[in-house]
Amino acid sequence: MSVHNELKRITTETLRKMKFDSEKISMLTAYDFTTAKMVDAGGVDAILVGDSASNVMAGHETTLPITLDQMIYHAQCVVRGVERALVIVDLPFGSYQSDPQKALDSAVRIMKESGAHAIKLEGGEEIRDSILRIVNAGIPVMGHLGLTPQSIYQFGTYKVRAKEEAEAEKLIADARLLEELGCFAVVLEKIPAALAKQVTESIDIPTIGIGAGPDCDGQVLVFHDMVGMNKGFSPKFLRRYLELYDEITGAVAQYVNDVRAADFPNQKESY
Ligand code: KIV
Repeated sequence: MSVHNELKRITTETLRKMKFDSEKISMLTAYDFTTAKMVDAGGVDAILVGDSASNVMAGHETTLPITLDQMIYHAQCVVRGVERALVIVDLPFGSYQSDPQKALDSAVRIMKESGAHAIKLEGGEEIRDSILRIVNAGIPVMGHLGLTPQSIYQFGTYKVRAKEEAEAEKLIADARLLEELGCFAVVLEKIPAALAKQVTESIDIPTIGIGAGPDCDGQVLVFHDMVGMNKGFSPKFLRRYLELYDEITGAVAQYVNDVRAADFPNQKESY
């Protein structure tokens, strides 16, 4: 008989139950093994291998340039570091919008080659056939509505979305559609808190907010933003739990001084 304690993995069903039990869901991004290990050990419920890797890891201005191969590489690194959290991977721009078969092929590559547990994509009605094709293949899908960064050149701005009635109504209809199509959760990005509350109360799948107020079923932040590694990015919705940019540049400056002064390495640090 096996005596080891079985580690309880988070599944899409766990998240559904958390909403039902009014337990808040926590999600953070990770793009590499070491960060994923720390984020998982900290106890988050879900880890998003976001296409924000395009900005944070590669230094691009938008999320558009990152490729499917690059997302798979990041996802493989994260999966190797995670024991408990649900790992969700963004389908990158251009890998699912054109037709449902391409969308399914992209999602299958992510699931097969990375070992991740679910995919995320941006949009509602416009990509309904792609979502349906992926869900019908047995792949868990997370939706993403509101400020969808892959459409930034259409929006022209990173300002709050769905302040006008027409856009808010479309967002509510899209959230209901995502639930109907079988998505297991939906990210709501940068929309008024009152609208996020209305959406959260009108669907049975969990809503995960970023800049969408306190009434979502869960919250997500970009890891590098919440630990203060990205000094230039300070939107109202961001809470910084550390100031790592200052900590790290300070440590590097100290190391440079120590090397220049021939203080490092000392005798104890030598063989
Ligand atoms: O790519 C990402 O990091 C995201 C989150 C902001 C939700 O999509």
